[in-house]
Amino acid sequence: MQKTRYKNSRSGQVSDWTLFEHASAIEEAACNRILDAAKSAIQARGQFLIVLAGGTTPKKIYQQLASMPADWAHWHVFHNDDRCLPVDHPERNSKMARDAWLNHVPIPQTQIYDIPAELGNVAGAAQYAQLLSTVPSFDLVLLGLGEDGHTASLFPGHAIDNRAAAVPVFDAPKPPPERITMSQQRLSDTRAVLFLVTGSGKQAAVDQWLAGVDIPATVIAPPQPVEVYCADIRLSCN
Ligand code: 6PG
Repeated sequence: MQKTRYKNSRSGQVSDWTLFEHASAIEEAACNRILDAAKSAIQARGQFLIVLAGGTTPKKIYQQLASMPADWAHWHVFHNDDRCLPVDHPERNSKMARDAWLNHVPIPQTQIYDIPAELGNVAGAAQYAQLLSTVPSFDLVLLGLGEDGHTASLFPGHAIDNRAAAVPVFDAPKPPPERITMSQQRLSDTRAVLFLVTGSGKQAAVDQWLAGVDIPATVIAPPQPVEVYCADIRLSCN
């Protein structure tokens, strides 16, 4: 297991990288990290506020969490982005999370906060931003990394209004073009961030990140270092 720390001088983001031997090792480590964060948060504040990511690596983690014991009644679940498709569309991140995990554990339905992306990106983002205005700092934000360096639905070259907690996305380069994403500012308002990065297709984005290139993943800069669990790539800044 290789570890390294990197500081982005532009955004101030400090990232702690752990390179695992296999993607399956990430899944086990991430489940443990999530369950530990939940335990500490519930002990300290009586609730656990987690923000989920879409994507293939998170899906495998969610499937494992579905059969693990936890104090589910105190979990509150949000999403960092979603796609403007019908509620039951297989490519909705909220549907993926429910099918893989949330439908199988006793988290109260009123504590699962799907992004209302079926309303369209403008109306859905406004409604989610309104909800988020009542939510304190998150405990844990999960994020993925796209091959072009995007995270959540923050895409390279797509400026968003960072004053809002949730914003509409138009013309996303990854389909579908209309999406809703939390802003970098809201995603940074958290006690911890865990990026999940697997696959050689992400190598160019990882190289850019570690070379200080301005990609969306580097703008998430909470007070604590972000943690990056990765596999099947090379870490070049050692
Ligand atoms: C989305 C995701 C997106 C994803 C990355 C990584 O809805 O498209 O939120 O940001 O996390 O593209 O996805 P993979 O893990 O599938 O590579």
